[in-house]
Amino acid sequence: MSPAVPVAGKSWTTIGAEESIREGQFLEFSLGETPCFVFRRKGHLYGYRNRCPHLGITLNWLPERFMDSDNCFIHCATHGALFTPESGDCIAGPCQGDSLTPLTLRVVGGQVEVRDPSEHHG
Ligand code: FES
Repeated sequence: MSPAVPVAGKSWTTIGAEESIREGQFLEFSLGETPCFVFRRKGHLYGYRNRCPHLGITLNWLPERFMDSDNCFIHCATHGALFTPESGDCIAGPCQGDSLTPLTLRVVGGQVEVRDPSEHHG
């Protein structure tokens, strides 16, 4: 018997068609109570919790706008921390050396599915 509503972190959640996430595009959604985002960069999909490790607040002020003005780093709008998009590592700012929490992604039947591995207990 499977639950009608996926439980965040315990199962895969479908967030949309893979082809609908274009280069440079960010897509925001929630896994349970946890705000998250995925994006495509240089052809690859990445996903993280939308949570700055500095104070635990969301990174962006504007919907689906996460990059710095040079389009090089994910940017925390509150105190300016910069994160490498491909790894989530903070390379500058008050949480330097810390990192964003990555999601696990997979594509099944053309649909992007995500899971928060840090909440997965088997
Ligand atoms: S909350 Fe992100 S740098 Fe301060």
